[in-house]
Amino acid sequence: MSNITSDKAVLVTCGLPYANGKAHVGHLRTYIPADIYVRSLKKNSQEVTFVCGSDTHGTPIVVNAEELGITPTELVSKYHVHFDEVFKKMGVIFDAFGTTDDDTNHRRTLDIVDRLIEKGYVYPKTIEIAYCPQCDRFLPDRYVAGTCPHCGEKARGDECDQGCGKHLEPGELKEPVCTICRGPAEYKEQEHFFFKLSEFKDFLLEHLENLGGTLNARNYALGWVKQELTDWCITRNLEWGVRFPDHDELVVYVWVDAPIGYIAFTEQWAEATGGDWEKFWKGDCPIVHFIGGDIIYHHCIFWPAMLKGADYSQPSAVVASGMVKIEDKTFSKSRGYVVWVEEDYLDHGFHPDLLRYYLASYTSHTKEVNFSWKIFQDKINTELVGVFGNFLYRNLLFAYKNFGSVPEGDIEPEVMEKISSTIEEVRKANSEYEFKKAADTAMALASYGNSYFQSSEPWKLIKEDRDACGKVVRNCMQIAKALVLLFEPMTPGSMEVAWKQIGMDSDVHTASYDEASVHVLSGTELMKPEILFTKIEDEKIAEMEKISSKRVKAAMAKEAGIKEAEIMEYKAEIEYDDFAKLDIRVGRIVTAEKIKKSKKLLRLQVDIGDDEPRQVVAGLAEHYKPEEMIGKTVNILVNLKPVKLCGVESQGMLLAADAGERVSLLTTDKDMDPGSCIR
Ligand code: 2FM
Ligand code: ZN
Repeated sequence: MSNITSDKAVLVTCGLPYANGKAHVGHLRTYIPADIYVRSLKKNSQEVTFVCGSDTHGTPIVVNAEELGITPTELVSKYHVHFDEVFKKMGVIFDAFGTTDDDTNHRRTLDIVDRLIEKGYVYPKTIEIAYCPQCDRFLPDRYVAGTCPHCGEKARGDECDQGCGKHLEPGELKEPVCTICRGPAEYKEQEHFFFKLSEFKDFLLEHLENLGGTLNARNYALGWVKQELTDWCITRNLEWGVRFPDHDELVVYVWVDAPIGYIAFTEQWAEATGGDWEKFWKGDCPIVHFIGGDIIYHHCIFWPAMLKGADYSQPSAVVASGMVKIEDKTFSKSRGYVVWVEEDYLDHGFHPDLLRYYLASYTSHTKEVNFSWKIFQDKINTELVGVFGNFLYRNLLFAYKNFGSVPEGDIEPEVMEKISSTIEEVRKANSEYEFKKAADTAMALASYGNSYFQSSEPWKLIKEDRDACGKVVRNCMQIAKALVLLFEPMTPGSMEVAWKQIGMDSDVHTASYDEASVHVLSGTELMKPEILFTKIEDEKIAEMEKISSKRVKAAMAKEAGIKEAEIMEYKAEIEYDDFAKLDIRVGRIVTAEKIKKSKKLLRLQVDIGDDEPRQVVAGLAEHYKPEEMIGKTVNILVNLKPVKLCGVESQGMLLAADAGERVSLLTTDKDMDPGSCIR
């Protein structure tokens, strides 16, 4: 893997989350390592700007807004705020977090598109676009699903999301189906605009050969560029987005204006701070993109070609993270294999640093991370609590109780040697995007600290030789100082506290790794330490696992058409007396008719053995025709207080099994007379 070593300022960006749903662990799998990288650059005294923002255009937004019956603006405003808040809570601190619907981005996108047009890189062409005859509309991107022409897997309009991952052009998808009405779509001709991507083949081959970042990104993109490079359709039939110049019926494809957001957000940062955005985008200061492994094609092919075509600088590195599994199952929101950052993690009182540590240290950046509550518990309890937390707390408590300040005593060369070699290894690992290696190396220093403390037996020395004991403690304080610096990128919130505990009054977030070689000052007053990492109990994990498995069950039930509420929770226990209050009788339906003005309600007369039948209004019209109900034996609750439904009085309730789409009336196993009691 090649890394960025630069004296120049560095721009780091993170793939923009679509502002159409909540933040989950899958998002953090990219954002946390990016934040760790930025913090580690700062620890190298590197000037760095970190930008991101919400991806607000395209069909991912429009389809969701349509489903919810709200406008795209309402949808993206809600989720933009959500992402901004979650990132801050998780310690992911951007220098700018804008939206692609901001004026800055509309302007920058138009500037780039105009430039591409001016330079002859854009041309019109009549192509076949998926069209739904039932819905009478064109079907851009996520409005159409079908089969990938490259690998034969199921795919959505613009992306083979379940197979080879390739970007798909309009018209490429086989067996197109409208995702709104599920009916077959057809192809219809329409004029669209294309970017001459094919002219950038040689440029891209060279660009990719020199691209830094992780090899998965470079190699995947090289594979596609070597095979084929077709021109790219950059317009869509949508109302929502950045208008294509001189064509009011078209917007630019979301993958045009989304990455341009990186530039727009850099401009926003520059405007707010007096910084210079052009040193990155028009100059030679490096740009590093952190992205998910599913959007390599866009970042390593479309994006650099577009930048090159419009005379902007291109990225220096693309760092692509591996995917996420939840409890060893492929991540899937619809199947319930998801962990929401707020409701499943933060709201349960877990410290952000624990998840940050888990994601950084689970496996190498390009491999798949499995999020499992048990593994989470184990990693936190054995590593953060058992090794690092243990070293910090026992050493600091011992120092505070026995000395109250950092004692005198020489720092041993062997200790300094261990510290500086660890710092160098971690520095290197982080700069090579090897965050797990950095975490393990830092943790190894904490183990070394524990062994040093244990083998020096300061609790014995304090009674026999106070000076010798002081020396051990000062050496441990030096190790602690290095550890706090090393862990700050991974666990920044906790290290802020730890930095104070070791008597430092500077800002740990801006302190550099070089500080680790500055000797801790004897005489520095120490405060009573508090425990930074506490063990996660089995009960807590059981509670979290229950939440996860309920979600999976609910998703399965939903698929099977069973109402979520019913599969989810059993009602609270009741006494027999409560049940006995219900007067349920056998009834026989005498008449049934639809109630005008209601799609759902039927008016029924039910013989319950009295002189007069009971009138019942039942919500069964979507499940039974009136004529098929007549003569049915039913179970009816007869002592329910009468209510009026659609102006018609209902004097009881029929019992039925309800699985959402499927509803079935309860009847009796043998032929029973109307009025018989049900107990
Ligand atoms: O795939 C996604 O989630 C996109 N919203 C990422 C966009 S990244 C960039 F190009 F803007
Ligand atoms: Zn495919």
